[in-house]
Amino acid sequence: MDLLVYGSYGYTGRLIAHRLVRRGREPTLAGRNRDRLEDQADALGLESRAFSLDGPTEGIVEYLEGFDAVLNCAGPFVDTCGPLVEACLEAGTDYLDITGEFRVFEDLIENDDRAREAGIALLPGAGFDIVPSDCLAAFLADQLGSVEELTIGIAGGASISAGTARTILRMAGEGAVVRREGRLRRVPAADDVREIEFGRGYGTRSAVTVPWADVVSAPRSTGAEDVTAYAAVPSPAIGLMRRMERLAPLVGSRPARWLGDRLIDAAISGPSARERATGSAVVWAEATDGDDVARGRVETSEPYGFTAQAATAIAERVVAGEVDPGYQTPATALGPDLVLEFPGVDRELLVAPGEVP
Ligand SMILES: NC(=O)c1ccc[n+]([C@@H]2O[C@H](COP(=O)([O-])OP(=O)(O)OC[C@H]3O[C@@H](n4cnc5c(N)ncnc54)[C@H](OP(=O)(O)O)[C@@H]3O)[C@@H](O)[C@H]2O)c1
Repeated sequence: MDLLVYGSYGYTGRLIAHRLVRRGREPTLAGRNRDRLEDQADALGLESRAFSLDGPTEGIVEYLEGFDAVLNCAGPFVDTCGPLVEACLEAGTDYLDITGEFRVFEDLIENDDRAREAGIALLPGAGFDIVPSDCLAAFLADQLGSVEELTIGIAGGASISAGTARTILRMAGEGAVVRREGRLRRVPAADDVREIEFGRGYGTRSAVTVPWADVVSAPRSTGAEDVTAYAAVPSPAIGLMRRMERLAPLVGSRPARWLGDRLIDAAISGPSARERATGSAVVWAEATDGDDVARGRVETSEPYGFTAQAATAIAERVVAGEVDPGYQTPATALGPDLVLEFPGVDRELLVAPGEVP
């Protein structure tokens, strides 16, 4: 299989590599730690390429030769996406990743024209962020015909991996971001709190504004000019999120980041196999064209397990040449029904256009 999986020995990279092998694929594994990479490649019977992303682009391009696509699993992606995308543009290799960092989406949208010229697809967000929310938003847009305003809510997924904790730490202090009249606006962390009826098994929960990447990507999939994303959090966490922002200069310093990384490594190992098998999550969304409203929800399996399923399926389809060049969201690349392909997914239209909300 002409797929390079970068960051393959991390928590989520391992899930993805295993899943590809279980599906009879033979991806090449890659990452910067030769020992961990070779151990993993030997155990799975796969080839590997050890390289860091610190050097010049030409050095990275050499390692991409012969591959149709790179699936980047190495996050925080603010550190890894730029060098890999530059190399992909030069090598003519499709790029996809599992980021949920809105800044990375912004950078990739900026590279849309270059990607079209190079004939490659740039498809970030091929995991739990943002496949279910993007597909649900595009599904509601199809129901309405056009969307002016989109609101998204996310609940579920109790445990996180060390990589996700590190990524959250990197974003701490940046607050949240919303889209208003087509422009991104920074707002304080947990700026708005609203009650969302997430439905079956989840009930009504307090949710706060978060910088979920749909705020950047949804205009492409739906045309929405106003986008807000909320995540359900327990009430004590709301105050904590607000305090974290005030501590931003401290949390963002190099020594604090170093200490934070050590603490995360010692304390967080990611969802267990049992948690992945039994967990779930739900994405709720409401879209309006100014007059009419459509509302829906998508329930998925546990987010890390879902990410492995979605990223492998999307990578297979990118390698098969099914995705057009340029910046793509999961739904623009493969349609709003993509999310229905994954086990345990259930989509409901809660309010159809024309119904009284
Ligand atoms: N979209 C989603 O729903 C979703 C789901 C799961 C994970 N994620 C994101 O995916 C990322 C990875 O998560 P994880 O659980 O796999 O974390 P992890 O276990 O910490 O693994 C991170 C991987 O990235 C590599 N890496 C980190 N920084 C690097 C750099 N500057 N250069 C090269 N390699 C680098 C690490 O290599 P070293 O060990 O050599 O540092 C490791 O292989 C996180 O950002 C997380 O938020 C998103």
